[in-house]
Amino acid sequence: MPPLRLERIAPAHTEALRDMAREFAEAGDPRLAASLEDPAAFFDAVERFAEGRDLPEDRVQQSEFLVFGGERLLGRVRLRHRLIPPLERDGGNLGYEIRPTERGKGHATDALRLGLDEARRIGLERVLLTAAETNLASRRVIEKHGGEPDGTRVSPNTGERMQRYWIRL
Ligand SMILES: CC(C)(COP(=O)(O)OP(=O)(O)OC[C@H]1O[C@@H](n2cnc3c(N)ncnc32)[C@H](O)[C@@H]1OP(=O)(O)O)[C@@H](O)C(=O)NCCC(=O)NCCS
Repeated sequence: MPPLRLERIAPAHTEALRDMAREFAEAGDPRLAASLEDPAAFFDAVERFAEGRDLPEDRVQQSEFLVFGGERLLGRVRLRHRLIPPLERDGGNLGYEIRPTERGKGHATDALRLGLDEARRIGLERVLLTAAETNLASRRVIEKHGGEPDGTRVSPNTGERMQRYWIRL
C-alpha cells in the first residue's frame, strides 16, 4: 500500500464514508452513524467545527481528516485545537480510528504520525491523547510515538478509566 495521507473531510467523500460507516456499524460501533443518517448535516457540522464557528460551549475547534492508502479509505483522524476540562479527561487533542477490516496492519501508527504533523502545523507544542485503560492497541500506538503517561481520569462520556499521555512536538 502507498504511504498514507490525510484528506480534510468533504462532501466528495460521501460514498467512501458511507461504505466505511456501514462497516463500523456492522461491527457494533456507532461512531460514524451520523454520517449515514444525514450526510448534509454531518458535513455542515464538520465545517462548523473546522472553522470553530457556532459551537456549543463544551466543544472546541476541530479539524477532521480521512486517512487514505491510495484510493482505499482506512479511517479517520480528528485534531482538537485546544483543551477544555472534558477533553482533558477523555478525547485530548487527537483521536483516530481505523476501519475494522484494516486493523493490525500499522495504519493507526501511521495515521497518528500524520495527525501529529497537523498538530505541529497549527502551532501546538504538545498534544494530549487519552485511551481507555483497556484499549491496549491504542495505548501501544501512543506509546510507539513516545507518549508520556500522565495519570488516569474517568471519562465523562463513558465512565471508563482513561489513561492520559502527552506527546511533545
Ligand atoms: C485502536 C486502533 C486505532 C488501532 O488501529 P490499528 O491500525 O490496528 O493499530 P496498529 O496496527 O497501528 O498498531 C496496533 C498496535 O497495538 C498492538 N496491539 C493490538 N492489539 C493488542 C492487544 N490486545 N494488546 C496489546 N497490544 C495490542 C499491535 O501489536 C500493534 O503494536 P506493534 O506495532 O508493536 O505490534 C483500532 O483498533 C481502532 O480504530 N479502534 C477503535 C477506535 C479506537 O479505539 N480509537 C482510539 C481511541 S484512543
